[in-house]
Amino acid sequence: MTKIKVGVAGYGVIGQRLADGVAKQNDMELVGVADVAPTLAIRALKEKGMPYNLFLANESRRAELDALGIKISGTLEDMVKSCDVVLDSSPGGIGAKNKELYERLGKKAIFQGGEKNSVADVFFHGYANYEKGLGKQFLKLTSCNTTGLIRSVDCLDRAFGLDRVAITIVRRVADPGDYHRGLTNALQIDKAPSHQAVDLMTIMPHVEATGILIHTPITHGHIITVVATGKQKITKEMALDAFRKHPRIRMVSIDEGFLGNASLFRYARDLGNPRGDMYEIALWEDSIVESGDSIMYAINIPQEAVTIPETIDGIRAVMAMQSTSAEATAVTNGYLGIGKWKQA
Ligand SMILES: NC(=O)c1ccc[n+]([C@@H]2O[C@H](COP(=O)([O-])OP(=O)(O)OC[C@H]3O[C@@H](n4cnc5c(N)ncnc54)[C@H](O)[C@@H]3O)[C@@H](O)[C@H]2O)c1
Repeated sequence: MTKIKVGVAGYGVIGQRLADGVAKQNDMELVGVADVAPTLAIRALKEKGMPYNLFLANESRRAELDALGIKISGTLEDMVKSCDVVLDSSPGGIGAKNKELYERLGKKAIFQGGEKNSVADVFFHGYANYEKGLGKQFLKLTSCNTTGLIRSVDCLDRAFGLDRVAITIVRRVADPGDYHRGLTNALQIDKAPSHQAVDLMTIMPHVEATGILIHTPITHGHIITVVATGKQKITKEMALDAFRKHPRIRMVSIDEGFLGNASLFRYARDLGNPRGDMYEIALWEDSIVESGDSIMYAINIPQEAVTIPETIDGIRAVMAMQSTSAEATAVTNGYLGIGKWKQA
């Protein structure tokens, strides 16, 4: 039996699954997969021992792939030449560009839903209009939603005949692992050191700082944990005493019910603070722990309001309204009502 030779252009979410699917067909041979960069899928392919040949769709990142020791079996053009059919699962719009190559080499190709319908001779569904695709050079698949929808509608239509359907689609916003639509069910890590640590050293050059920042898909405040090492050992009591005296630090505890950033946002609203703003950072008393000679604690940063007091201090500074920090911050605090809660 001569096997139909198939290649996959674009080894992403769909391409990986197409390749696995083709590899399972006894009457087909997977020539390989093509991509442009050392994506995670390509790295995983390498870690799996390169079960599929990898071809390069353009040269711009060949050096990176070489440096990672990822074997490249040729160019996209080489792959297409060896194929009867190419499954193009490159990002929407790229397939139309790749089509020029398929046309030039006289090969058949099947495009995915992100391409315009005009890319193909037939907009295709395996159940609903299979026969229209017979012998054609270019097909375009329906999108994921449409594919599933048509399966069910075609099923009823074949069994009973249908006149009309009305549909509501509740669409997932991204695939697992996607970051291009914002953080969806995902955390994102920045390169270390975080700019906050670097900035701290710019303002306080005598303190050596470093740190890591992880983005989370939430909006009500940041939480920072700090490990601080003093010139002398700072005990929990010493730290508590100092923090309690600071007007712009609000001491809170888990036992009181401040379970996290959302508790603080709700409390600010209960106080009637406009927009749920909080000028103070909150510091969890019960987060303070000693670790050897160091002290560790956690603070909540209400990002929308926290810089307001220090900005007003800045006005005082640039206008030389007060000559010391103690004087200026005290005036700012007084006008903003900061620290009132300590007397309440
Ligand atoms: N993700 C889904 O749930 C889904 C479902 C149905 C259909 N589709 C459609 O499938 C197609 C692919 O989507 P995806 O989600 O797999 O995208 P993806 O971004 O996960 O994968 C695309 C891959 O193509 C590679 N690529 C970029 N330029 C290329 C080029 N010139 N030649 C070859 N490869 C190239 C990228 O590096 C990437 O690995 C789109 O048309 C999309 O609309 C996606």
